[in-house]
Amino acid sequence: MADSSEKTHQQVQEYYGQRVKNADQLLCTGCIVTSGDVSAKVKDAIKNVHPEVLSKYYGCGLVFPEQVEDCRILDLGSGAGRDCFVLSQLVGANGHVTGVDMTQEQLDVANKHIQYHTEKFGYSKSNVDFKKGFIENLSDAGISDSSYDIVISNCVVNLAHDKLSVLKGAYNVLKDGGELYFSDVYVDRPVPDELRKNSVLWGEGVSGALHWKDLVKIAAEVGFAPPVVVSAKAIATCGKGLEAVIDAVKSDPVIGNNPELLVVLGQLSIASVTCRLFKLPKTVSTSDTPVQVTYKGTVDGHVEQFKLSYDLSLPKSTPVVLPQSVVEMFTSGRLKQHFDISPTSAESPLTSYKSLDQFNRVNPFEVISTPAPSTSSCCQGNSCCS
Ligand SMILES: C[S@@+](CC[C@H](N)C(=O)[O-])C[C@H]1O[C@@H](n2cnc3c(N)ncnc32)[C@H](O)[C@@H]1O
Repeated sequence: MADSSEKTHQQVQEYYGQRVKNADQLLCTGCIVTSGDVSAKVKDAIKNVHPEVLSKYYGCGLVFPEQVEDCRILDLGSGAGRDCFVLSQLVGANGHVTGVDMTQEQLDVANKHIQYHTEKFGYSKSNVDFKKGFIENLSDAGISDSSYDIVISNCVVNLAHDKLSVLKGAYNVLKDGGELYFSDVYVDRPVPDELRKNSVLWGEGVSGALHWKDLVKIAAEVGFAPPVVVSAKAIATCGKGLEAVIDAVKSDPVIGNNPELLVVLGQLSIASVTCRLFKLPKTVSTSDTPVQVTYKGTVDGHVEQFKLSYDLSLPKSTPVVLPQSVVEMFTSGRLKQHFDISPTSAESPLTSYKSLDQFNRVNPFEVISTPAPSTSSCCQGNSCCS
């Protein structure tokens, strides 16, 4: 592995293994997820997770896709395991969740609580396991190609130096029709090298954050369909905020003595974006011919409507006309049985999406919502929007 990746690994392992001991010590998270974002089922599942695991939750979004019963799910950068233990309940006894992480201290906490959760969920054997490894090299961690229905990740890709390898690995381990459903941090402009070298800025997810256009490019290079934005939230006002991050790096001899760099840092717009990247079967249609799709109302916990993205919801029993390529994107995997698809005349009204490529044009910074400034968070630490 290249030197720069090795150095990044060491820096991040030190940050999450030794420096940060609980969520309160992170400078730039909190208040990203609010009560309204979380379904009752997920809230209850979070409440069942052991308090020590909850206290070490360092995510930046919700990574709980719908209809996961019996699925095999892989969590990239699983940390202390909060999302894995929540999903363990949602996939049920016949599903399986694997977490992979490179930091021993995080894995120790996750492994320590496997038995607790197995008993709490009433399972005869655990449906969760944790593996030590780098997310840039999943086969070395013993993870086979085409073996997962869903890959999730919560605030981790920004910490990896080689993002192309991470997305390529996720693509390879997914089955056809599967999806990478992940929350991560993005910046609205390129970050100067001097800032990228600072371990606090990198550890806090600021300087390694991807520029949105780069995600679109990498996703296409790897073979995924264009990113579907589920939610986008500004994070500068969250937790202790960007101000606290700037304070923490003022002692850095390069940054602290360079007022211009501090200005650049202060001007960064940072967003937490949850998006889904589908791995389409080779046989899928790329045609933009309009087709009629009707949601049956059968996805567990989503009776009234199915929400694909921040701006595209399909109400129950209401025919919607969409390009075939878009429909096939979300119906070529586990969600297929929940929709009726039929041909429609070319004159039928289309939704605002006229082609799959239009998903490419969504810039999360243009649709961002800004949570109210607060130090309290929802589903962070020990509390969960109760
Ligand atoms: C911000 S924490 C998020 C942890 C977890 N997803 C959560 O929501 O609590 C980042 C985690 O990713 C892990 N990580 C970062 N880069 C990694 C890499 N290249 N390979 C494996 N794990 C990595 C770190 O060890 C750390 O546990």
